[in-house]
Amino acid sequence: MDFMELAKNRYSERFFDSRPVEQEKLDKILEAGRIVPTACNYQPQKFYLIRSKEGLDKLKTVTHFHYNVPLMILICYDAREVWTNPGDRYYQNYNSGEQDASIAATTMMYEAEELGVHSIWIRGFDSKTVVDTYGLPDHMIPVMMLGLGYPNENAKANGWHYNRKPIEDFVYEL
Ligand SMILES: Cc1cc2nc3c(=O)[nH]c(=O)nc-3n(C[C@H](O)[C@H](O)[C@H](O)COP(=O)(O)O)c2cc1C
Repeated sequence: MDFMELAKNRYSERFFDSRPVEQEKLDKILEAGRIVPTACNYQPQKFYLIRSKEGLDKLKTVTHFHYNVPLMILICYDAREVWTNPGDRYYQNYNSGEQDASIAATTMMYEAEELGVHSIWIRGFDSKTVVDTYGLPDHMIPVMMLGLGYPNENAKANGWHYNRKPIEDFVYEL
């Protein structure tokens, strides 16, 4: 599919059925997240698969936005492996972890779309609760979660999907 068509077709799915995402498709989605560019090629992104009954039960205690997904990928960066710029005078103690993890997440999201797997990007959670609930090490920084699965009969984009600012609101000449 043409990339622009793919990008326009994607919407945040909030109505999933229980059908699991096939391992073969998941492997491709994870591969898409592996090959992304990262600052200095440090590759700090980590993908935690939440798909066991225990993992999904815990998910319901860490976010209201679980949407009964059959598969959630918690995307983190490893603070020991991330590029930092202590000399940045605007952002104190800057590191590129959110960017690196978000590039991975975005690439996985569009690979999923290409494979016919719907997705939802989730940031509505408390990072400390996630770290404690899943027993992550201190150096693992949660960035977001990517819910993946197939739509149920109620699936549709909500109004926000159709509400985008005009291009003039984004683009400036310097
Ligand atoms: C950084 C980020 C955080 C988001 N967090 C949530 C969330 O916690 N819960 C949710 O339902 N949607 C979440 N979304 C989805 C947005 O609400 C959605 O992308 C936006 O409204 C545009 O709709 P669309 O994705 O259907 O085009 C998030 C999206 C992004 C990019």
